[in-house]
Amino acid sequence: MRPPTPRTPRSRRLRGKVATAATAVLLTLAMAAPAASRTEEPTHSYEVTGPRTAAQRTAVAATGASVDAVRRGSVVITADAAQAERVRRLGYSVRVLPGPPDRSDGRRAEPFDFPPADANYHNYAEAMAEINADIARYPSLMSKQVIGKSYEGRDIIAVKVTGAGTGTGTGTGPTGGAAVAAAARPEVLFTHHQHAREHLTVEMALYLLKEFGSKYGSDARVTKMLDSRVVWIVPDLNPDGGEYDIATGSYRSWRKNRQPNNGSSARGTDLNRNWDYKWGCCGGSSGSTGSETYRGTAPESAPEVKVVADFVRSRIVDGKQQIKAAIDFHTYSELVLWPFGWTYDDTAPGMTKDDRDAFAAVGKSMAASNGYTPEQASDLYITDGSIDDWLWGNQKIFAYTFEMYPNSSGAGGGFYPPDEVIDRETARNRDAVLQLLENADCMYRSIGKEAQYCR
Ligand code: ARG
Ligand code: ZN
Repeated sequence: MRPPTPRTPRSRRLRGKVATAATAVLLTLAMAAPAASRTEEPTHSYEVTGPRTAAQRTAVAATGASVDAVRRGSVVITADAAQAERVRRLGYSVRVLPGPPDRSDGRRAEPFDFPPADANYHNYAEAMAEINADIARYPSLMSKQVIGKSYEGRDIIAVKVTGAGTGTGTGTGPTGGAAVAAAARPEVLFTHHQHAREHLTVEMALYLLKEFGSKYGSDARVTKMLDSRVVWIVPDLNPDGGEYDIATGSYRSWRKNRQPNNGSSARGTDLNRNWDYKWGCCGGSSGSTGSETYRGTAPESAPEVKVVADFVRSRIVDGKQQIKAAIDFHTYSELVLWPFGWTYDDTAPGMTKDDRDAFAAVGKSMAASNGYTPEQASDLYITDGSIDDWLWGNQKIFAYTFEMYPNSSGAGGGFYPPDEVIDRETARNRDAVLQLLENADCMYRSIGKEAQYCR
């Protein structure tokens, strides 16, 4: 008989990658008895040939699989055997794809760290250390708040970046006039790593902090923006999932958080189906705990979602949401997406033609700079309870989803691009991020309606 699985999350006691005797023992346990192979259905990546419309892709997603990439006439999914069988019964051909790349280089990874060949990725402790160093280096520009804790007790942080303020909000750069009063600065939110295996998004957050820190005061565009905006960066919404994904030295292709589900051996909620706007409304998420897109027991039932939603609500000052625009970073497919995900319609209650046109105008302009494909989220497939639908539908924040490198053609490593691409693929979004900051004071300027909407 096998010993019972300990109920206390192992990683609650694991904060760093210090190879203490205790972590070595715990790692041995983790490797000898991976929860995934024992209490959870193993998943694989599959190519599904046949689906070519958004409705057909929504039907594929309704099997409980996650749709990871969309191509013309096919999709790539993550699914367990039962979900793959359901996809087959829809009449599509389903072919197993190779698993995550072996990046071990024949060497053993440290506990809870990336494989040696991907050592330039930052695990949770390394990312937090990097951020703390940035803040120590640029203390008048950046500060950190712990906004709450993950299920396993890791800190979820928000980094505030805003200039000391010698620039002007509208015109002439760092020496051009009075700073925009801090209270009047439009705020912009960047969120990262809802999905555990999308590690490149944490690197995107680290890039932004480095870029803002090192260019403030020397680069006119950065300086002007940081003197007239408040930037919030939440670099890691799903630290538990991220650490679980790398814990053994071989990638696990994990997507959800690590919250247990009552009466089920399957762990995890899909954070990007757990937000409190049209939650579970429309066949864009699953009520089954074993699904890759399990929506949770209620909106914000995932502590990580509740923490970030509470933070966003805390930015309502005098009845006004201070955050005007946002990007939620994911991988992969090289897309710029805008709401809604819950309906195929371009306009809907809560999304006027002008709203939609402003979303599309700025979205297309950002996409022109990074080479991504711009489209409404539901052009892929229906999603409900996603962060961008909530940020817009509930908070009226112009919220985009970026799906980063690689594109969906097959090369590039899927969720696990080699660390050699980090610098190029994070810097690739520099201009798009600055564009969003520049538009954030009046998104309707992009459609020539500043006077009508922004006074
Ligand atoms: N890969 C993302 C997900 O499944 C795509 C979400 C697109 N929909 C949206 N509303 N942003 O969560
Ligand atoms: Zn994602």
